[in-house]
Amino acid sequence: MIYYRAIKILFVMVLATNIVYFTRTYHLRETELKQAELNHISTISYDTDDQVQFSPNKPYAELDQLEKVAYLLKSVDSDKERFWLAQTEITEPNLQINPQDFLPGANDESPNWSNKPTLFYDPRFTLSVYINEIKHQLLTKNPHNEKAKDNMITVPFAWSDWVDLTMLNEELAKPVDERADCGWLQEKVNKPTKYPDFCVNLRDLPDEELAEIGLPSKEYLPGFVVKGSPMNKAPHKQVMMQGKAHLLTHQENPLSIIFLTKDGTYEAQVAYKQRIVHSSMFSEFLSRKNIDVTGDSMVDEVILNPITEFRDLNREVKSRPLNWDDDIYKMNSITRQKSANASRELYLDPKAFDYKVEQVEEQIIEYETRLDHLKDALTNELHYDLAYIQKIKLDRHEMNHYKSLKHAYSVPLKDETTYYKLATLLKVDGNKDAGWHYEWRFFNGGLRYLKDGWTQTQLEIREQIILDRLLRNWFRFAEEKGIISWIAHGPLLSWYWDGLMFPYDIDIDIQMPSAELNRLSKHYNMTLVIEDVNDGFGKYLIDCATFLQHRDMAPKDNHIDARFIDVDTGTYIDITGLGKNEESPPQEFNSYIRNKNAKGDSVNLYSDRRKHWLTFESISPLRYSMIGGVPVYVPNDIMSMLNHEYPKGTTSYQFEDYFYVPILRLWLKRDRLQVLLDDKGLKDINLDQMTEFLKGLTVDDKVKLLETHDSVLIEYYLTHKHTQLHEIEKKFMLDPTLQYSILDLKDNYDYHQLTSNFKMGSPLRKSLYDYEYIERLKHQE
Ligand SMILES: *[C@@H]1O[C@H](CO)[C@@H](O)[C@H](O)[C@H]1NC(C)=O
Ligand SMILES: *[C@@H]1O[C@H](CO)[C@@H](O)[C@H](O)[C@H]1NC(C)=O
Ligand SMILES: *[C@@H]1O[C@H](CO)[C@@H](O)[C@H](O)[C@H]1NC(C)=O
Repeated sequence: MIYYRAIKILFVMVLATNIVYFTRTYHLRETELKQAELNHISTISYDTDDQVQFSPNKPYAELDQLEKVAYLLKSVDSDKERFWLAQTEITEPNLQINPQDFLPGANDESPNWSNKPTLFYDPRFTLSVYINEIKHQLLTKNPHNEKAKDNMITVPFAWSDWVDLTMLNEELAKPVDERADCGWLQEKVNKPTKYPDFCVNLRDLPDEELAEIGLPSKEYLPGFVVKGSPMNKAPHKQVMMQGKAHLLTHQENPLSIIFLTKDGTYEAQVAYKQRIVHSSMFSEFLSRKNIDVTGDSMVDEVILNPITEFRDLNREVKSRPLNWDDDIYKMNSITRQKSANASRELYLDPKAFDYKVEQVEEQIIEYETRLDHLKDALTNELHYDLAYIQKIKLDRHEMNHYKSLKHAYSVPLKDETTYYKLATLLKVDGNKDAGWHYEWRFFNGGLRYLKDGWTQTQLEIREQIILDRLLRNWFRFAEEKGIISWIAHGPLLSWYWDGLMFPYDIDIDIQMPSAELNRLSKHYNMTLVIEDVNDGFGKYLIDCATFLQHRDMAPKDNHIDARFIDVDTGTYIDITGLGKNEESPPQEFNSYIRNKNAKGDSVNLYSDRRKHWLTFESISPLRYSMIGGVPVYVPNDIMSMLNHEYPKGTTSYQFEDYFYVPILRLWLKRDRLQVLLDDKGLKDINLDQMTEFLKGLTVDDKVKLLETHDSVLIEYYLTHKHTQLHEIEKKFMLDPTLQYSILDLKDNYDYHQLTSNFKMGSPLRKSLYDYEYIERLKHQE
């Protein structure tokens, strides 16, 4: 009995000790976490490095380290010559020309651009003439820039005015019978093309085709008239020439042109194919400016400036903001709220992801009903009613959309043809680029392929400019038009690190709900989007794949639903739609499905046309954020996506030759860090040691890096405010380990206040035209 009691007491004692022990440890752990969280949030500071004050009279050597950083940042501002790359406004908007050279009517002995086959290209010329023309039409036909009157503003269009095709001049300057032919394009290929009809020799070109191409005579065409892509591999030059010849001859025109501004758009409809120099646009431009080109006081010099033209347009006709009704998710209004406390999160509707064959059918029926009514109104005089016709007519975007719906509906999944063709390059002459990142028609040289007259560094700068502007213009367009999208894959991972794009990534991926994808294609497919002319002269084509109407996995190739293509370079943003379909989700979602079913909730699980699956909850609410100074949306549960897609992506400080440098919040090439490694006598260190070294860098090291490399200083100057905001944002959005998302930020006003800082500022990098054609040559080493 006693024995039994003793055991009982012992048992109770053990239990009690355990309870005490566990509560204590638990409590300690709890306190630790609380503390981590406090530190996490309490270290938030909105002060930036450039705000540190220092006495201008003190010599540099006597400044403390933080003052030195501020001093160096200031020096970028003041020494515009040395730090020219940090100046991102357009430096030479003026183009001086002799107007005589651009006017039709010259004789054959002294040919002008209008009566000789070689091409002239300067975006300042094109933009000045078009903006002036559109302003004139708006003032006379639609002074309030009303959407209902959009169809009254019409312009001709030829790709050669908008894309630099002057490489073809080499051929166009030769006598017709000496021009290279299709055989030359295919002279050095990896294998014979499966599509020999891709090209017609000029000498064999039938007259009907010449008429279709819309140029005055055979003189105006290269020896190879390219109808499509041969889809085999060829050297750089041939692949470029092939795309350019296609643009000159067979590429269809965009349906409309949209000019972006900071608060609205201007739009024009493309009526037919014609070059500026073959139209009356330029002479009307001159006469509107009272420039005399005929009389005795004939002017032989005019200055065109697209920025001034654009400002005039802005002053005289207001750009059009998005209609409230067209902002179906109210995204345009949410992002423009004034109150700092207001949430900029975007709560999506699962319906946006519900786009299947039923919706395709419904739209076809709707279009066909309208077409029937139109036909009836035109063929039965008792039903003729102009107002009614006006109301139900199909615009050209709708007509194009209708055709694509019909076609996609009639073709089974397995018979889809490949929509997008890429530039396919031979790996010769030191080229390592297979071409997989460029749309073939607009290909203008591999990003990293050393062209004559270019250095490696210049190519790297060019690449960053291209990607920066692509992203900027897509999100500006999307916000202007209330189109929902968010960054995904690579850009999301680079967002995680410093809120910038990786300096080594060459593609940009975004996702959108599948119904939204259809909306994009219905209204904006084949639209040429023109960058805010104050920022640069970029132009982007929205090209939506026919088979985006199919939502099951694409059997081959058609994984990408739409592209936003930089027509100057052929680089693009890949747009994929996410939504419901008939595929079965992978096993890892079994428990998600079980949970949902047990609770009687609907299962909202979506995929793209490749293999990426996401739940509604991991996407919505979308969070307003920035990447590279561009306001964007990111999905709600970023970390579950990243951890799934890139198991080491958020912890590894190395990618190829690049290392993440926390003290600068930048990815730098290893050679930039050499000065510090040498100082510390670190040689042959492994990745773990390198990571420790990077994490341990101090403000002394930061000063050293900024002093040593102008390029690092410029990069820090351009990015430090953005990356600092990002650092703060991560403290709200992620837990203290920075590996898990915090999913509910609805009532976090500090977070909302932070997001009220996210606005599109001036561009991070130079305009591509300014860099490529002007500034780079001025600063040639
Ligand atoms: C272009 O044509 C105009 C009008 O015929 C002529 O006066 C001018 O000299 C020509 N310019 C050139 C460069 O040939
Ligand atoms: C924003 O929210 C905070 C916290 O709820 C409140 O103290 C502050 O007055 C609000 N500011 C505005 C402008 O509404
Ligand atoms: C977009 O336009 C192109 C060119 O007209 C067409 O081939 C394609 O089917 C269109 N896509 C959609 C989704 O309408």
